[in-house]
Amino acid sequence: MRTPSREPQTLGGAGTLDRIARILAARGIDPTGPVADESGPSAPSEALPAGVPPRYRDAVADHPQVLAWAREVDSQAVAPSAGARRQVTTGPSLLMAGVTGAGKTHQAYGAVRALAETGVGVRWRATTAADLYAELRPRAGVDSEQQLAAVARIPLLMLDDLGAAKASEWVEEVTYRLVNRRYNHMLPTLITTNLAIRDLRTHLGDRVASRLAQMTTRVEFAPVDRRRARVA
Ligand SMILES: Nc1ncnc2c1ncn2[C@@H]1O[C@H](COP(=O)(O)OP(=O)(O)OP(=O)(O)O)[C@@H](O)[C@H]1O
Ligand SMILES: [Mg+2]
Repeated sequence: MRTPSREPQTLGGAGTLDRIARILAARGIDPTGPVADESGPSAPSEALPAGVPPRYRDAVADHPQVLAWAREVDSQAVAPSAGARRQVTTGPSLLMAGVTGAGKTHQAYGAVRALAETGVGVRWRATTAADLYAELRPRAGVDSEQQLAAVARIPLLMLDDLGAAKASEWVEEVTYRLVNRRYNHMLPTLITTNLAIRDLRTHLGDRVASRLAQMTTRVEFAPVDRRRARVA
């Protein structure tokens, strides 16, 4: 575990900042300028395609729960200083569950777009769980603790295909540490999975499943593989 100073610092609790953000909004002041980001793409809409893979570049969220999520995250955004763009701070998370090809990743990228279109600034990152585990595997010359801390505190994380990687004690521990940090800091997280919640519990342990049950709204998809439906 890292020292508290390495944990994500949310802007929440700054009531003054919240008031400033509301005053600016009431005066129709729309702070502009993309957010500097050294660790991932930033998401005002004009910068969005750079961070979105070509497959999902045109993805538009149309699921009511996904659109509600973007509105809620936007409503919790706070300007760090007068006149600055409001930044994502805390917010709810989504657990998008469904069969392969149901459209989960499409909706997740659409959610990032919908959030960007509200005008808030947000540092965000998308990764599959399997890629993340590969990145975090302890190996020479890489500070995987630092990498875990960085992904844990990114203001918006898309964690795609949770539960698709082979289960192990190490996978369970890393997932617990990641989810627990985001749970504690109430950082918005978009999770997709093919697994039912009971299978997630079996795969990743009850600590992860319990936190996900509280921190996420579950979004169910119709059991249709859109990839196959397309060619049929
Ligand atoms: N609402 C939509 N409108 C148009 N195309 C869509 C929509 N939803 C999904 N698609 C397309 O359907 C295909 C499958 O979608 P997607 O990759 O999001 O599925 P998934 O649920 O993430 O699947 P997997 O579990 O295998 O990762 C993609 O080509 C995607 O672009
Ligand atoms: Mg997917």
